[in-house]
Amino acid sequence: MASYYSPQPKFYYYYYSSLIFICLSTLMFRINSQPAPRNISLGSSLTAGAASKDYWLSPSGEFAFGFQQVAGSSANGFLLAIWYNKIAQKTIVWSANRNELVSSGSTVKLTKDGSLMLADPSGRQIWGPNGVGTGVSYGALFDTGNFVLANRNATVLWGSFDQPTDTILPSQIMKRGTELISKYSPANYSTGRFKFTLQNDGNLVAYTTFYPQTGSNYPYWASNTAGSSVNFNKSGNVFFSSANGTILLYLFTNQEPTQELHQRLTIDHDGVIRLYAYPKQSSPSAGRRWPAEWTTLGFMPKENICALMREDTGSGACGFNSYCQIEDAQFPKCKCPQGYKFVDHSDESRGCLKTFPPQDCSSAEKEDGLFDLVEMVNTIFPSGDYEYYESISEDMCRELCLSDCLCDAVTYERASCWKKRAPLSNGYMDQENTGKTLLKVRRQNSTSTAEKKKKHDRSMRLMVTAGWVLLGSSVFVNLLFLVAGCPWRNKNRMMSQVADDSDEATALSTNLQRFTYREMESATEGFKQVLGSGGSGTVYKGVLGERSGELVAVKVLDKLPERDGHDVREFATEVKIIGGTNHKNLVKLVGYSNEGQHRLLVYEFMSNGSLADSLFGGGSFPRPNWYTRTQIAYSVARGLVYLHDECSTQIIHCDIKPQNILLDEGMTARISDFGLSKLMKADQTRTTTAIRGTKGYLAPEWFRNVPVTAKVDVHSFGIVLLELVCCRKNFLLDFDKEEEMVLVDWAYDCYSRGKLYKLVEKDEEAMEDLKKVERFVKVALWCIQEDPSLRPGMKKVVHMLEGAVPVSEPPDPNSFMSAV
Ligand SMILES: *[C@@H]1O[C@H](CO)[C@@H](O)[C@H](O)[C@H]1NC(C)=O
Ligand SMILES: *[C@@H]1O[C@H](CO)[C@@H](O)[C@H](O)[C@H]1NC(C)=O
Ligand SMILES: *[C@@H]1O[C@H](CO)[C@@H](O)[C@H](O)[C@H]1NC(C)=O
Repeated sequence: MASYYSPQPKFYYYYYSSLIFICLSTLMFRINSQPAPRNISLGSSLTAGAASKDYWLSPSGEFAFGFQQVAGSSANGFLLAIWYNKIAQKTIVWSANRNELVSSGSTVKLTKDGSLMLADPSGRQIWGPNGVGTGVSYGALFDTGNFVLANRNATVLWGSFDQPTDTILPSQIMKRGTELISKYSPANYSTGRFKFTLQNDGNLVAYTTFYPQTGSNYPYWASNTAGSSVNFNKSGNVFFSSANGTILLYLFTNQEPTQELHQRLTIDHDGVIRLYAYPKQSSPSAGRRWPAEWTTLGFMPKENICALMREDTGSGACGFNSYCQIEDAQFPKCKCPQGYKFVDHSDESRGCLKTFPPQDCSSAEKEDGLFDLVEMVNTIFPSGDYEYYESISEDMCRELCLSDCLCDAVTYERASCWKKRAPLSNGYMDQENTGKTLLKVRRQNSTSTAEKKKKHDRSMRLMVTAGWVLLGSSVFVNLLFLVAGCPWRNKNRMMSQVADDSDEATALSTNLQRFTYREMESATEGFKQVLGSGGSGTVYKGVLGERSGELVAVKVLDKLPERDGHDVREFATEVKIIGGTNHKNLVKLVGYSNEGQHRLLVYEFMSNGSLADSLFGGGSFPRPNWYTRTQIAYSVARGLVYLHDECSTQIIHCDIKPQNILLDEGMTARISDFGLSKLMKADQTRTTTAIRGTKGYLAPEWFRNVPVTAKVDVHSFGIVLLELVCCRKNFLLDFDKEEEMVLVDWAYDCYSRGKLYKLVEKDEEAMEDLKKVERFVKVALWCIQEDPSLRPGMKKVVHMLEGAVPVSEPPDPNSFMSAV
């Protein structure tokens, strides 16, 4: 069986020589200049020891088989290994006794009866190959790095390629059942905490293990398709194929001329699977183009590995009480939170310990007030909660932890609070984490409470600002932030509302209906009639049978590739927040469905379509008259006041546009799609690509180094308001007069030249109400100021629209930009 992929030496030479003529001559030269490649005859042996530097070489001398002394705790530790012998770094690609180093004087022997045996100095067998069978007549180390035992006919009976450790080499094949297990650390070859395996079921999966056992714990990468082998071919391409040879998946593709490179694929101690290259010495150009060290040609998984590893039991990517952070795309690093230190500085994977005496529960009264919460932004510990609260303010969440002597930390995320006891596990930092962890640490007596708090607040502000500057360093990164979700919660509010919140939460958990996916499938007749689709998913018309034919709009959220407990909880939390809203200018959530990959939101049906449908015409809905349009403006503004200032959790909509403003049968405007920004995660990219030029509905700060606040909605509202006044889109590419192409520019132009009537020339009703037109346009111009701080809050907008407060002269909306 082994001979399948380990060609006989004769064929091997033939293959090589036929490949490239130059290659052949190089090889001949090498063969001549090397001690003649020899078969390892029965009875040969090697002895471990600093003095005896003998080993068995492959024909070209690239690889060696023998003992390597391993640095570490025991200076006397030897590994029976195969390594690259021609390069400065004698990189080990295979080893026999990784978990049981042997001392000097140990031997490896190919016995007279044909078995390979590693024995310690007393003769006790430490290791022997599995499943060799009988008839071994010699051993040989190939230039591929495969050490084989072969019979008289040169049929390979066993090869080190059959029992890989953490590395595979070009021409090596991973078959079903093959496991690569990482090293413990860069210098420690014992089995580590990660494995990469082609399972017997054909799935190719990377797992964390139940260290120190090697059982599979948590999959952090999977092919999700069954195949029969992983091939690493001589050109450096690594691919996953089915039994008939169809390539299912390329793991790595390599453009480099591989004749000049040594390559290996290794699952490293940090769980990352990397394709490495090292210049071959024989290559004349190698020295110039390549540094003489291993270089990463590719790695996987590509995503933040810290976020991918989340075990139900076990510590996750890093040890207990520590958290994982990506330093560079491919290098996860284990870190200790403030107030904690590494158990072992030379081994950061072993987790962290408190540097302070833990809270004494027997004298909780006395210890009260001696602890502070350290804020870990974008960092969460997703597992190991012992208590959970929802619809809660951050202050309350903090208080609940500080007053509980068992509490070591809380994770706070959008009005939800998870209490955690040490050891904390699965911690990781990711820019996409909107949550944060508040870690309880003992207060230093030197600083007074008030001082400390002030300092803490200031440094937090600094940190947040710094974070923003980093985030905002390019439009691209900012877009990523947009993708990551709009910060729709304001932590400075809500304290006074905590009591109401919990009542409300209880009420709504009973009010919201939970549907099965099947129920929704039948309600929508198999998702037949599409009402619309947007960045977050597609909306279908449906009828709730049991409830006397009540019409609903069913929004099918785009599927997430993978889900875990955290996502499910997150969804539930968000649904509750959306369901907890109640205002006549918002579309009401009736229920939801949350099964497997299917996440559906069920809204009441709006019979008059969206504002976009009627305002921009072309559809079955009549264009609303001036009076109705003013009413729509008031309604949308009031709905936003509610979202920003009046509901228990502040909701920033982030996507106010006529498509998201629906009209009920009484032509009352209702805002839809709020609270979805976080639910959408990566799916929001589509919203991003929907940005039209530089002036869509999106506020300019999305592209700047400034925080995004509720003022982004004010900006979008300003655009919608102008569109309502003028009954046209902000952008009209095919408009005949160029200066009128962009509505906001045209509007300011008309306003500043005192010719506002031009905006509504064709609308008799509006022409007779020019005072109101002027007021509305002025409010809109305030709303779309480039500088968010100049924009009024939504409450003020309502007052100004209603004429309750005077509207001052708006500056040129673009003046801020031109001043910068
Ligand atoms: C090694 O042994 C095999 C089988 O006896 C033989 O065919 C081959 O030529 C030998 N190779 C060398 C280099 O001696
Ligand atoms: C490698 O790490 C393991 C686990 O910490 C330890 O038991 C072993 O002694 C280490 N080996 C060496 C050579 O340091
Ligand atoms: C390796 O695989 C790639 C992709 O299938 C193929 O293009 C290339 O020719 C192969 N090289 C060798 C030496 O087999």
